[in-house]
Amino acid sequence: MNREQSAPLNLLELEERARAALGAMAFDYYAGGANDELTLERNRSAFERLALLPRVLVDVSAVDMGVELLGRRHPLPAVIAPMAFQRLAHDEGELGVVRAAAACGLTMALSTLSTTALEEVSAEASREAPPWFQLYVFRDRGLTSELVARAEASGYEALVLTVDAPRLGNRERDARGRFHLPAGLVAANLAAAAEARSRLDPTEAGSSLADYFERNLDPALTWRDLEWLAGETRLPVLVKGVLAPRDGRLAVEHGAAGVVVSNHGGRQLDTAPATIEALPRVAEAVSRAGDGRAAVLVDGGVRRGTDVLKALASGADAVMIGRPVLWALAAGAGGGGEEGVRHALSLLASEVELAMMLAGAPDTAALSPEMLA
Ligand code: GLV
Repeated sequence: MNREQSAPLNLLELEERARAALGAMAFDYYAGGANDELTLERNRSAFERLALLPRVLVDVSAVDMGVELLGRRHPLPAVIAPMAFQRLAHDEGELGVVRAAAACGLTMALSTLSTTALEEVSAEASREAPPWFQLYVFRDRGLTSELVARAEASGYEALVLTVDAPRLGNRERDARGRFHLPAGLVAANLAAAAEARSRLDPTEAGSSLADYFERNLDPALTWRDLEWLAGETRLPVLVKGVLAPRDGRLAVEHGAAGVVVSNHGGRQLDTAPATIEALPRVAEAVSRAGDGRAAVLVDGGVRRGTDVLKALASGADAVMIGRPVLWALAAGAGGGGEEGVRHALSLLASEVELAMMLAGAPDTAALSPEMLA
C-alpha cells in the first residue's frame, strides 16, 4: 500500500495531504496567516517548547478525558473551532464536519461565514452535543439580531463572539491569490436575508474577504456591544480573541460566560503572542473575575494530544481545534469528508488518552500547572 492510501497517523500529516488535494487559493486561505506569519508559526513553536512533567505510579487504568463546559459534559476537552467556507475544502463542507462531530459526541462551532445555512447544520448535530454559533457583528444590527434569533431557534447552545477582527488581517497569500468564493458557493447564512452580502465575487485586486469585512462588519464594537448582545440573547456568550488578561476580566464583567484565548490562528495581528503563552494570565484573570465559573478555551496550534494536556495544565477548560479538521475534511482517511474528520477526531482522542496515561493524569482535574516543566 502506498503512503497516499494509508490512513494518516497524526494530525500534522494531514496538512501535506490537503496541500496536494486542494487548489492553491483554498489551501492558502486556510493555511495562511497575517503579514510574515510570525504568530502563526509561534502558536506551534510555543507548544513545542513547553515540556510536560509526568507523575508516576498513579492508577491510570480508566482515564476520564471529560470536562464540563457551560453546564454540559463533553467527552473530550475539545470543541471544533469556527472556520469559514468549509465547502471550499470538500463538497460535504460543514455537514461533513457536524456529522463527524456528532459521531464523536463533540461540539462544532459554526462560522457566521459558513457555506451551509446554520439551520441545515444544527439539524445534523447530535442532541447530546448541540453546536455553537460564531457571530460576526455586522454594521447592520438588524441583520446581526436576525442571525442571533435564528441560532437560538435552531438549537445552538452558545454564541461565540469574535472580537479580534474589526478589519481583516493582512493576509498576503489571499491578496496574491485574489481570494474569492467560486461560483456556486455563498455565505449561506446571509443568502435569504441579505443576498448581496452572501457573495464574495472576485474583486479588482486583492482578497474579496478583506473587502467584505471592510464593507460589512462593524469596526466600532466596544464592551457596551457585548452587554447589548448578552442582553439580547438567552444563550451564553463566549468572547473569542482575548489575549490580554485585562480583557479577560472585562469580558466577564460585561456579561460573557467565558472567553476563547485566541489570535485567530495567527490571521489577524501578526507578532501577537502565541496563545499558549498568553493563556495562564488570561485564565487567572477570568477565574478571579468569574469566581471560577467562567469558561476558558484556547485555540491556535493544537496538533497533538500532548498540546491538549499543556493547554489544560495552563488553565484552559478545553481547546478549540481548527485547521486539522479542514485538512481532514479535504484529504483525510477515506478521501476526506465526514469519514476523514471522524478519523482525525478519533486520532486526537486516542492521543489525549495516551498522553494522560503517560503523564499520570487519570482525569482532567489532574492537569495542573505543576505538570509543566
Ligand atoms: C474568517 O473568519 C477568517 O478568519 O478567514
